[in-house]
Amino acid sequence: MIHVQNLTKYYGDRKAIDGISFHIQEGEIVGFLGPNGAGKTTTIRILTCYMPAHSGSAKIAGFDVFTQSMDVRRIIGYLPENVPLYTAMRVREYLNFRGKLHGLDHNARAAAIKRVTELAWLGDFIDRPIHQLSKGMKQRVGLADALLHDPKVLILDEPTVGLDPTQIRETRNLIKKLGERHTILLSSHILPEVEATCHRTIIVAGGKIVASGSPEELKERIRGGSRIITEIAGPSSDISTALKSVNGVKKVEVQSVNGWNRLLIETNRERDPREDIVRIASQKNWSLREIRFEHGSLEEFFVEITARQLAGARADDAKEVTL
Ligand SMILES: Nc1ncnc2c1ncn2[C@@H]1O[C@H](COP(=O)(O)OP(=O)(O)OP(=O)(O)O)[C@@H](O)[C@H]1O
Ligand SMILES: [Mg+2]
Repeated sequence: MIHVQNLTKYYGDRKAIDGISFHIQEGEIVGFLGPNGAGKTTTIRILTCYMPAHSGSAKIAGFDVFTQSMDVRRIIGYLPENVPLYTAMRVREYLNFRGKLHGLDHNARAAAIKRVTELAWLGDFIDRPIHQLSKGMKQRVGLADALLHDPKVLILDEPTVGLDPTQIRETRNLIKKLGERHTILLSSHILPEVEATCHRTIIVAGGKIVASGSPEELKERIRGGSRIITEIAGPSSDISTALKSVNGVKKVEVQSVNGWNRLLIETNRERDPREDIVRIASQKNWSLREIRFEHGSLEEFFVEITARQLAGARADDAKEVTL
């Protein structure tokens, strides 16, 4: 449904995105995740025909965003990062105006406004002037606007920014529900957001895609494998030395917790050393009250992979300076 190939965009001589390629199938909800300045909004603005790229191609439902922009605009609903609204208008008036721009007739507009008012919870302030609304309410008007013409594809740039916790949860549920009928690309720098709503995540940093996959696939790729947490009573240095000798154990860190040694054990991915650890504790007569795997979180992966990318970019800058 969305095909992006090798998109590159400069602002002046600064490269904002650098050879971005991805494909999104019909019905997928995909999260575009990255730190501030990663290039999320730049990519989205190109996809929504607000800005040309310097090179590369992008197609939505087979339409080229550079040469068939009217066709693209008809099938996408776009929630921009900073929702531009005519603040002197009342919400209903604004949505009616937007409906006319989409070419909806009187009855279709009335039905569409009713539908999006319910979806975006605008009922309480549908007749209020937009300038009187709070930031979160304006965000919801923007979302209603994006849904007005029932587009096949929704492109949402930071959809929950400015919303309160209840509305954030409601919006995430709404996105999941909309995903049953629409293809959705949403951007976020909040990891739990994409984890909670998306089938797949594309992680961008420094204008490049650094990883992509389902939350499970990304977790699989977490460097360093998993950690074992165990609590054993006994002489801490003996325990630490004994565990370090176990095949598959890379590193052992000891903390003292209420008379127990809490051991954080880094392991190789290939080998599960839990049985060996239990056997050693039993042989030495040390009490063991807990042993479990702690899998790395997607958050750790995100921090690690974006830091690596940015460090790489800085190293490239340094090389350019020395050349
Ligand atoms: N209009 C502009 N003129 C010059 N540089 C820009 C412009 N817009 C963005 N940039 C630069 O392009 C890069 C990518 O910005 P972009 O807005 O796409 O990031 P983002 O991933 O959306 O970040 P955020 O999470 O903060 O919204 C940044 O280095 C930014 O400073
Ligand atoms: Mg942005």
